[in-house]
Amino acid sequence: MAQKWTPDSWRSKPILQVPEFPDSAELEKTEARLATYPPLVFAGEARKLKSMLANVANGNGFLLQGGDCAESFAEHGADNIRDFFRVFLQMAVVLTFGSQQPVVKVGRIAGQFAKPRSSNIETIDGVELPSYRGDIINGIDFDEASRIPDPQRQVMVYRQSAATLNLLRAFAQGGYANLENVHQWMLGFVKDSPQAERYRKLADRISETMDFMKAIGISADNHPSLRETDFFTSHEALLLGYEEALTRTDSTSGDWYATSGHMIWIGDRTRQPDHAHVEYCRGVKNPLGLKCGPSMTPDGLLELIDLLNPQNEAGRLTLIARFGHDKVAEHLPKLIRAVEREGKKVVWSCDPMHGNTITLNSYKTRPFERVLSEVESFFQIHRSEGTHPGGIHIEMTGKNVTECTGGARAVSAENLSDRYHTHCDPRLNADQSLELAFLVAELLKGGRDQDMRAAANG
Ligand code: TRP
Ligand code: MN
Repeated sequence: MAQKWTPDSWRSKPILQVPEFPDSAELEKTEARLATYPPLVFAGEARKLKSMLANVANGNGFLLQGGDCAESFAEHGADNIRDFFRVFLQMAVVLTFGSQQPVVKVGRIAGQFAKPRSSNIETIDGVELPSYRGDIINGIDFDEASRIPDPQRQVMVYRQSAATLNLLRAFAQGGYANLENVHQWMLGFVKDSPQAERYRKLADRISETMDFMKAIGISADNHPSLRETDFFTSHEALLLGYEEALTRTDSTSGDWYATSGHMIWIGDRTRQPDHAHVEYCRGVKNPLGLKCGPSMTPDGLLELIDLLNPQNEAGRLTLIARFGHDKVAEHLPKLIRAVEREGKKVVWSCDPMHGNTITLNSYKTRPFERVLSEVESFFQIHRSEGTHPGGIHIEMTGKNVTECTGGARAVSAENLSDRYHTHCDPRLNADQSLELAFLVAELLKGGRDQDMRAAANG
């Protein structure tokens, strides 16, 4: 029988990846103040997302989750948010058409500020300083003062998240997400792409479908679902003091919810079953993500599933596979088989970013071919296991940065320095993100055709 859970029960467990705050009195005061602030999201929204993810877990629908590796105070502007949202929606249209299924839209945004690090110390030219841990904890500049953890940053994160969420809600519901607009942007991308021929067929079919709907009188004026979309937020629940301060009971159900974002996930480095991060997440009712890297064993996974989703509720748990293009075939099948054998209901999503990071010309980068290759293997493995490839989880931006190499408008190793702006890991740029969406749409469509053939023959 599990121990009683409270929003602070994680405090008595071992914890990794948390910094020492020099002024613990100030930290406590800040957390107490945050606990009086309004929630950023509502329990009812988190429940809606969970029910949409339940459909995905049952084989109907696809999860698109993406955004910055780490949000930053420096890049907090309307243009950035708009450009991200614009590309994200275009990807969603392409994927919806490819899968002929609803696409669940979840941003890594409005709360993604804390970063786990492989080392506590960063060394440059013989100088050692504490590592940067995300803007919610310390500053990225390589000087002693910036690297001191500062509790005030949590208040800034709360305010930035509220402002970001406010704009996203306006975009999602206020006309910007009109399907017709999004489709026009997508056509613009296709026209300018060096891979235009490859994308044209799909784009033309979407155009035809839209024209047909218009001809029979289905338009954004009489169908709100054509001009609005549900957009949700997510982040890694790493800084648990901040999460605890925003943990609230839902007045209608009496249940606890993390109100810092709709969905939260547990990182691959902090998923020890007896540690603090698993303890915190098991008690809130939000949909949860769990990152699964090469060290995840089938038994370890089943143990975590039982802790995090004891009722085996569909939509509660999304497993985010992040093995690397060359390791996915070795690790993923045995995890899928264990989950199937035990009848566990999960969404399987593919993070093709974190297992494919390399260093080139002293820049951290990710070759686009490897990103694609991991996604392709993920789909192929699910097809042969007879399970549903339920989503992708990517690090992306709406700007034309040069952080990942490759793509149709190829970024070379030499180009990396041109526009390398990330605060943490390299992100797909706008073109690379859309290209990925087209390729995933082809994979989704391939699977659909295969299912239809099987149905016809069976
Ligand atoms: N409401 C539908 C959905 O969210 C259709 C839709 C409207 C849409 N605007 C969109 C889909 C933008 C993708 C992108 O799926
Ligand atoms: Mn990252």
